[in-house]
Amino acid sequence: MKFYTQQDNWDIVENNVPVFFVQDAAQFPDLVHANKPEPHNEVPMAQTAHNNAWNNFYNEKSTSHMIMWIDEALKLSGQDPDFHRKAINSGAHPKWTLSVQVLPESRQHEFDFHILDATRVWPVEEVPLGDIGELVLNKVVDEYFPETEQVAFCTSYIVPGIGFGDDPLLIGRNFSYLDTQLSRLGTNWEELRINRSVCPVLNNTRDGQGRHTITKSKVNYYPNRFEVPKLAAGGDDLRRHGATNKPGENFIEMAKVVEEQGYVDYPETLPAPTFKTHTKGPKFAEYRNQVELFSNSLSGYEKEHVIEAFSFELDHCDEPIVYERMVLD
Ligand code: HEM
Repeated sequence: MKFYTQQDNWDIVENNVPVFFVQDAAQFPDLVHANKPEPHNEVPMAQTAHNNAWNNFYNEKSTSHMIMWIDEALKLSGQDPDFHRKAINSGAHPKWTLSVQVLPESRQHEFDFHILDATRVWPVEEVPLGDIGELVLNKVVDEYFPETEQVAFCTSYIVPGIGFGDDPLLIGRNFSYLDTQLSRLGTNWEELRINRSVCPVLNNTRDGQGRHTITKSKVNYYPNRFEVPKLAAGGDDLRRHGATNKPGENFIEMAKVVEEQGYVDYPETLPAPTFKTHTKGPKFAEYRNQVELFSNSLSGYEKEHVIEAFSFELDHCDEPIVYERMVLD
């Protein structure tokens, strides 16, 4: 989802199931490779019913929860891959309630899983869903290429009031989407019509392939000898001017923004001395609890459905090491 707000665009790049395959962005390229058609023959297209995918699911235990959720989509897309667009065109407008789960920092250690582990759900009984709106798909695009092919959803596109947690998946995603968009669409992809902000953008970046905007000004940096650029509402412009929240001169800028606009990033509590390392804490190593919970919560019919889906997939794997281990272990 792309929200064209008065303080720049906010992209929510999410899925319609609450869990994900892996816990760390570094695992993602291998997951994607294993899920693609096998490299020696490009078979099967657009399916995970093959040796490499299921070999990866077996070896990468963090995928256990997610593979329980993938089901019905195969059937629907197999019969008519365009069913969703056709449904919208025919007036059937699918809608969802958009909800968020919010946890005060003081409760972060209450759970037997790590709250930033994307392969887990936060139980709704303990962290209730707060409804914030309704999402309705009521229109398909007018032209495919400029609106769909060229749209770029980027996790690092946020607006004042929203920050990033330490989720090892999200931190990696913040680099990965931008990287992809730079190679897929080129520099200045933010200026393509579908990606453009509805508010003025003052990042002082003027060059590069694909630049659309013409700025009438002698200076392309800030602070400068002419004036302090008028800051749009929100602290966002400070980030655009390259400021960090390190103490020192940027702190003075930060203080100015707080004074003028009343917003500052949520301060992160860190015990001192603090070192960030690329490791996952012990809670990330437990994979079975929620898979069992999910499985036990299914009705008889739903369980049958999962068994059928697994059987279909594994039936297409022809290396015993893949299908035997998956069933027996
Ligand atoms: C919670 C986990 C994740 C979710 C919910 C998610 C969701 C999505 C969605 C919905 C898209 C399609 C966006 C579009 O239609 O343009 C997408 C694309 C993409 N995802 Fe993810 N993803 C996740 C994890 C990751 C990770 C871990 C990486 C990389 C380390 C990654 C890299 C990408 C890239 C590069 C694209 C293509 C972006 C583009 O070409 O514009 N994703 N993801």
